[in-house]
Amino acid sequence: MRYEEEAARRKEILKDFFGGPAQADPPGEWIEKLVQFEALMMKYRAAIREVTTKLEVLNDEFSVSAKRNPIESIQSRVKRPYSIAKKLRSMGQPANVDAIRRYLNDVAGVRVICPFLDDIYAIADMLLQQDDIHLVKKKDYIQHPKPNGYRSLHLIVEIPVFFSQGKELMRVEVQIRTVAMNFWASLEHQIQYKNDLPSDPEIRAELLDCAERIAETDQRMFQLRNRIQQARQTHPAGQSDQTNALPDSFQP
Ligand code: GTP
Ligand code: MG
Repeated sequence: MRYEEEAARRKEILKDFFGGPAQADPPGEWIEKLVQFEALMMKYRAAIREVTTKLEVLNDEFSVSAKRNPIESIQSRVKRPYSIAKKLRSMGQPANVDAIRRYLNDVAGVRVICPFLDDIYAIADMLLQQDDIHLVKKKDYIQHPKPNGYRSLHLIVEIPVFFSQGKELMRVEVQIRTVAMNFWASLEHQIQYKNDLPSDPEIRAELLDCAERIAETDQRMFQLRNRIQQARQTHPAGQSDQTNALPDSFQP
């Protein structure tokens, strides 16, 4: 990384997380805080890699055994220093690395996008069955959608990551949702952040209605896929050799 970029990144951590001086070259006393913060973020990035690899392996295996990918895509992020500090402040906790470890579950975040509803639970079960993964908390916003219509399965998991000094248990927030749920959540997020209209009851009702239509479509697509699968099993001769003959990138 270029010196200017490095300096800008340090400046952001110092100012946004520690509330320290916003200078490119921090004085000695702040260097130690920076080093600790960066070391912790490196560990969260490592934990994201571990979880992502597990998910990719499951997806690969599934695509061989069932000729279908239960995962459409995986996104991940480490929470920004500013958001970490803001959340700790809202909890009445100090901005330091111990507080991050103790009180925050979502510094490392992985989002898994699945084609169909049942893929969500299949992926969650396969991940949680692994004996090095420990489930800390599960929130099923599919069985119990949020009042605004938000749907997703949220898992807070703890995963061991091996470093030179030994093993550390790192927490990762895994959000699993369908393409359709992700479509709604992404747009709702944009609307929320661009203005404060969602407090308007009409807009809230409209968003909720969209979420419900999307959920209904998810159900219909899931049932449609099941019907097609059953038809293939009952009439193996009519099996779609055509579909199988297509290269992966053309598969629906
Ligand atoms: P946070 O303080 O936001 O982390 O909430 P929480 O600790 O109560 O966790 P929860 O499981 O409810 O939500 C965590 C994350 O899920 C959020 O940071 C968002 O990424 C996502 N999320 C939750 N609710 C909504 C919502 O209504 N709309 C959208 N777009 N995303 C949501
Ligand atoms: Mg969060």
